[in-house]
Order: sequence, then structure tokens, then C-alpha cells
Amino acid sequence: MTNEIKDSIKVRIRDLNLYYGNNHALHNINMDLHKNKITALIGPSGCGKSTFLRCLNRMNDLIRSVKVDGQVIIDEKNIYDKDVDEVAVRKRVGMVFQQPNPFPKSIYENVAYAPLKHGLIKKGHHCDDLVEKSLVQAGLWNEVKDKLKEPGTSLSGGQQQRLCIARTIAVQPDVILMDEPTSALDPISTEKIEALMLELKKKYTIIIVTHNMQQAGRIADYTAFFHLGDLIEYDETETIFINPSEKKTEDYITGRYG
Ligand SMILES: Nc1ncnc2c1ncn2[C@@H]1O[C@H](COP(=O)(O)OP(=O)(O)O)[C@@H](O)[C@H]1O
Ligand SMILES: [Mg+2]
Repeated sequence: MTNEIKDSIKVRIRDLNLYYGNNHALHNINMDLHKNKITALIGPSGCGKSTFLRCLNRMNDLIRSVKVDGQVIIDEKNIYDKDVDEVAVRKRVGMVFQQPNPFPKSIYENVAYAPLKHGLIKKGHHCDDLVEKSLVQAGLWNEVKDKLKEPGTSLSGGQQQRLCIARTIAVQPDVILMDEPTSALDPISTEKIEALMLELKKKYTIIIVTHNMQQAGRIADYTAFFHLGDLIEYDETETIFINPSEKKTEDYITGRYG
């Protein structure tokens, strides 16, 4: 592999298998995720998209019945190695969920909480600066700068989701995982989040689960199609949508099932 290609890969997934008890939910997944790109994960409900996403920051460790084997190598280090602290992994690999889930705290505290807790900053003007910077990056600052003390939950759904993105950015991750981040939002809020993602990929590597194929087509550089726990096909988005190699992919794309 040339250095240039090697440098453009942020996450390498090798022979990844996941079991929920006896349910073998992910079958030997191999994949290279590109740095500063958006990768979309698509496929019918229950095919393992969320499960796969949670493997990338060890969130599945929180589920008791789960057994994972294989490797998820981020910047040359397998995050499943015994000496890796999973809390540190979740700091580097942030996650945004389907339902906006701000803490029952002020807008300011939603963003400041994790960096203070992790000791990344102290209270005071550094913290104020980080909160502002994160809200600016999340495209929310102008809407909230005069009401930072109000509860996060007082915002609209779309604003809450951008607040959750600001909260994720505030701990300075490298990778951002998003599990159907717009499926609870109206079209205008969805458009804002999509525009934001295109902006954020300049700094972060983004992996998004979406069941909206138009969304994958609009924003993703790469698309991976999953079916029943298998990675069927993974390529540039255009190839997946216009000229897929696998019949299963084509059937899904053309709406034959799903
Ligand atoms: N917490 C869990 N415990 C047990 N099984 C689960 C859990 N989450 C998902 N599964 C199972 O894993 C498979 C993949 O689910 P999931 O990753 O949620 O799919 P998707 O996100 O593509 O809809 C399904 O068979 C589902 O029932
Ligand atoms: Mg899911």
C-alpha cells in the first residue's frame, strides 16, 4: 500500500464478528473507512447497521450478552486491545443518536459537561471559548448565544440535534458516528444537518447510518450496503447507486425489498 492511500484511511476493520448471545449479528466484516470523508451505512432494518456503528467506539461493550472478535484499528491501534481504555475510545469516537437527547441541563452545560468531566479544560473563559467554538462549528451559535442558560430541551428538535453535535465536538473527537441523525427531524432541519455534515467532514471522519437513500446520495462519499449481518458491497457512493456489482445491492437500491 502506498503511503498516500495508507494516510487516507482512518479506520481499518478486520475480520469483525459480533454475537448477541447465540445471534451472530455481524459476519466477518472487513472495511477501510476514509479520513475526512462521509461514509453511509445502508440496508434493511435489522441488518446490523447500528450494531456495526457501535463497534467503532466500543459502545457494544455496554451490552451484557455481546461478544466481539476481530479488530477495529484507528490510527494504527486496535481499539479492542486489552490495554485500551474504552472511555478514552468513546472520547475520540463520538456518537450522535436518532433521537436528539440533550441532558436536562442548560445549553451551556450540555456542551461544557464532558470536557470539564474529562479534565480537558477548567471552568472560566477557556470553557466559555470552547462552548462558543463548538456551538459555532455545529451551526447553532447565532440561534442560542443570547440564551445559553436556558435548558437544552427548550430548543426545537433540529436545534437539539445540533446541540448534541456541539456536545460531541466539544471533546475534540477524530471520528463522529451518527445513527439516523435526521430521521426524527423535519425536512428543513434535515437539510441543515446535512449541510453541517459536509462542513464537519473537513475536520472529522464521519460515519452515518441512514435509511434514507437520497440522503446517502446527497452527502456520502462512500456507501456500504449491509444485508443480514453481511457487508454485501462497499464503494464510492456513485458506484453503489449507479453501477453496483452485487445483485442484492441493486435490488435494494431499486426498491425491490427493504
Ligand atoms: N441490544 C441488543 N441485544 C440483542 N440483540 C440485538 C441488540 N441490538 C440489535 N440486536 C440484533 O442484532 C441484529 C442487528 O440489529 P441492528 O444493528 O439494530 O440493525 P439495524 O440498525 O440495521 O436496524 C438484529 O437481529 C437485532 O435483533
Ligand atoms: Mg439501527
